[in-house]
Amino acid sequence: MGRYGIAIVGCGNIAKAYVRDMVRYPEVELIGVQDLNLNRARELAKAYSCTAFITLDEMLADDRVAIVVNLTIHHAHFEITRRCLEAGKHVHSEKPLALTPEDALSLVQIAERKGLRLGCSPVTWMGEAQQTAWKKIRDGDIGDVRLIYAEANHGRIETWHPNPVPFYEVGPFFDVGVYPLTLMTAFFGPVRKVTAVARVLQSERTTKTGDPFHVTAPDCVITFLELEAGQLARLTTNFYVHDTCQQGIEFHGSEGSLHLHDWLHFGSKVSLCKYGEGLEETPLVRPSPRRENPEYSRAIQELAKAIEAGRPHRATGAHAAHVVDVLASAMTSSRTGCAVEVTSSFPPCRPMEWAE
Ligand SMILES: NC(=O)c1ccc[n+]([C@@H]2O[C@H](COP(=O)([O-])OP(=O)(O)OC[C@H]3O[C@@H](n4cnc5c(N)ncnc54)[C@H](O)[C@@H]3O)[C@@H](O)[C@H]2O)c1
Repeated sequence: MGRYGIAIVGCGNIAKAYVRDMVRYPEVELIGVQDLNLNRARELAKAYSCTAFITLDEMLADDRVAIVVNLTIHHAHFEITRRCLEAGKHVHSEKPLALTPEDALSLVQIAERKGLRLGCSPVTWMGEAQQTAWKKIRDGDIGDVRLIYAEANHGRIETWHPNPVPFYEVGPFFDVGVYPLTLMTAFFGPVRKVTAVARVLQSERTTKTGDPFHVTAPDCVITFLELEAGQLARLTTNFYVHDTCQQGIEFHGSEGSLHLHDWLHFGSKVSLCKYGEGLEETPLVRPSPRRENPEYSRAIQELAKAIEAGRPHRATGAHAAHVVDVLASAMTSSRTGCAVEVTSSFPPCRPMEWAE
């Protein structure tokens, strides 16, 4: 197969992790990078011997670029992705796809109209541990899953991230709640009803460089989800409790329970017990390339393979748009105190071929 030319927009914290894995994939070639902060783009381009584009338009005009990977900050995702699609590029975006369901849906529609691929993170459900959990569930090892508990205690981002304010502007549900939410909807399909409570637990914060900032968006959101397939789920997300506390997802079925100890890391422990018996660790369907971190760019390789084969790609824009719909519905519920019905849907997700 040919190599698909990749360009990255947004050369911040996560870009390095993407590029580190991406340059090893035979299916893609890193053509160049772009950032509002030209120095950041130049630094990354120098490290990987590729082009530092001065503007987005310059990057979009380069015919070698087939796929744009949007690693800008949350508020910029929609506009960058829209411009890339309109310019005829396939796009994979970091999460969330957009900040409103209307914007997210419009991106899906533009991609469809133009016959382009639109993919979105999080894709941590493609990890070895996560795929192992899903296979056990599909194989019926814990019977009919009826209850899900998910915890996203993500700590205080300002203690490690150089630019924490955008994360607090969107809040933990949009930033990290999306991980377990995307995972459970990948496994079981769409959410149909959301009830949520949200609160600011710590309004005054300080950046690593000592600048104080004030938090207005809730830094804690607790959500109750009713899935179309019948499961009831409880999801806690916050930027308050340290991430050494619960960070996993539990699936409780008619025959037993399965605990994915960490929804983020591909090498996470997976434990299973039959009802009334002890919890035992389950071997992963294949070894994870790394124990501690996710392979963020795995979906880019998957997307390139899917385009080449003419088959659907796994991390779809429609799924990500549904997730944005659920996020927005939860925030509405937290303001009104009422449950919110969700009507959007997406095509069923498919397991990775090595875990089918
Ligand atoms: N940091 C992490 O650990 C992490 C992990 C997974 C996913 N993510 C996601 O990745 C995205 C980026 O996060 P980050 O931590 O790298 O943030 P960051 O602030 O470190 O980097 C974002 C970069 O995007 C650039 N940018 C912003 N608007 C732009 C625009 N309009 N055009 C071009 N460049 C623009 C900024 O200048 C900055 O360099 C977010 O959506 C975040 O949710 C981050």
